[in-house]
Amino acid sequence: MNQPDHTAPPSWLRTPLVLLLLSQISGFIIAFAGAISTTALTGQTIHPLVTLLVQGVVSAFIGHRLGLARWWVPVQIILPPATLIATAWQVPPWIFLAVFVALLLVYWNTARNRVPLYLTNRTTWSALSELLPEEKGGRFVDIGCGIGGALLYMARKRPDMTFVGIESAPLPFALAWLRRLLTSTRNLELKYGDFWKEDLSTYDVAYAFLSPEPMPRLFEKAKADMKAETQLISNSFVVPDHPANEIVSVDDSRETKLHIWKN
Ligand SMILES: C[S@@+](CC[C@H](N)C(=O)[O-])C[C@H]1O[C@@H](n2cnc3c(N)ncnc32)[C@H](O)[C@@H]1O
Repeated sequence: MNQPDHTAPPSWLRTPLVLLLLSQISGFIIAFAGAISTTALTGQTIHPLVTLLVQGVVSAFIGHRLGLARWWVPVQIILPPATLIATAWQVPPWIFLAVFVALLLVYWNTARNRVPLYLTNRTTWSALSELLPEEKGGRFVDIGCGIGGALLYMARKRPDMTFVGIESAPLPFALAWLRRLLTSTRNLELKYGDFWKEDLSTYDVAYAFLSPEPMPRLFEKAKADMKAETQLISNSFVVPDHPANEIVSVDDSRETKLHIWKN
């Protein structure tokens, strides 16, 4: 049996919000210590905007080294100077509230599930549609479907198949729902909720574009739920110790790889 690793930091210390806070506090200390030292040594006052920009860059670097996803880099750089600019421009407080609520509705469970929202691109939609079963009447599920782009594309291409999307973040789900309504796509079903609670046994293809974190658990779930001759496809993220049966390289700018495990 595996012994617990007592040297590893507790899991709450590795959540993005804690890492974000740690890196911004470190960035603040380094940037302001640098600004104060420069003033003491040269007599030159550093503009607060420059100090805050340095804080952003240092925090982004520290956050990246601590393991925050790459998309946090621009957020971390912009955050400190943006607070000063917003104060100087006297931005009404309700705008902060509106932005906060919108971000909350999009990144609803990012801190808990460690899966942010980023979207499968069009070239990958097309590559995915080539992997659909040839027999008529199959079922495809997008595990964490975001705003439903991949599903709408494939539902149009394969009217004989049923496509299902599961999403737990309210705003992306609402957008997917609206897009389905506006395009009158009948062979697409959208479910609001947690994909861990979904029984995957009725699907021929399960597609996921998540993050490294849930992959081992998802692989075990797919293996337990899904029937013979079905497949799990992961955009970009692998399962440690379980190499895919097939890897499809997509001809796009990010050199997407589709990892396919066959049951
Ligand atoms: C990287 S996005 C991928 C979106 C879409 N599949 C695509 O490829 O364009 C992952 C999505 O999974 C959703 N998600 C994360 N954990 C979830 C869960 N436990 N249940 C349902 N959705 C979840 C997130 O809210 C996010 O919208």
